[in-house]
Amino acid sequence: MDSLSRHEDYGSIPLHESHMVADPLAQFAEWLTEAEAFPIYEPNAFVLGTIDDDGRPTARTVLLKGLDEGFLFATNYLSRKGHALDGDNHVTAVFGWYAMHRQVIIEGSATKVSPEESTDYFASRPRGSQVAAWASEQSKPIDSRDALEQQFADAEQRFAGDGEVPRPPHWGGYRIVPTRIEFWKGRSNRMHDRIVYLRTPDGWTVERLQP
Ligand SMILES: Cc1cc2nc3c(=O)[nH]c(=O)nc-3n(C[C@H](O)[C@H](O)[C@H](O)COP(=O)(O)O)c2cc1C
Repeated sequence: MDSLSRHEDYGSIPLHESHMVADPLAQFAEWLTEAEAFPIYEPNAFVLGTIDDDGRPTARTVLLKGLDEGFLFATNYLSRKGHALDGDNHVTAVFGWYAMHRQVIIEGSATKVSPEESTDYFASRPRGSQVAAWASEQSKPIDSRDALEQQFADAEQRFAGDGEVPRPPHWGGYRIVPTRIEFWKGRSNRMHDRIVYLRTPDGWTVERLQP
């Protein structure tokens, strides 16, 4: 476990207010494009934090599937995260592009996208993923891997043939509308750059935080 005692230097490339665009979603799109080109493995993966019914935070990785006025991801609405969002839709999303010494932290609220939007996205997924959306009751316990394989086989049989697999009603997208977006860039001596955009009634304000 050498990594526990290593001290990486995160370099000298600065993050300066004057280099950043006024709209943080456009700034995010720029960073995501740069992460793709780097290339970062699964650059659209982020850790999504939600609040359970008992007020405790839970987190898991999901994939960003669209970017407009918010950040889109898709999942099972009956999963643990789906139930959490039914009760409290405040979320945090963390993109960790460590090889680039970059991190983006988004705070906001997640709401379901329209059923039409979910259906369109579901139709673009590989058939195996579509079948799996029917086969897996995400976040529920199951007796064995064999039992899970059986559920997949049953779903495959149900949708056998060339016909389309319809979107399950319990599967769809969420849009995270941000209220705060922090862009973090690692620097030497742990003197990192942190630029935060905060949503106000008049648009976005920008401030720099100490590392
Ligand atoms: C790289 C990566 C990408 C993932 N993408 C998704 C995704 O887009 N949607 C999803 O529901 N689960 C995704 N998962 C699985 C989740 O991390 C998680 O196991 C699942 O959604 C159940 O979470 P929950 O029980 O907290 O609801 C992904 C996992 C990894 C490691």
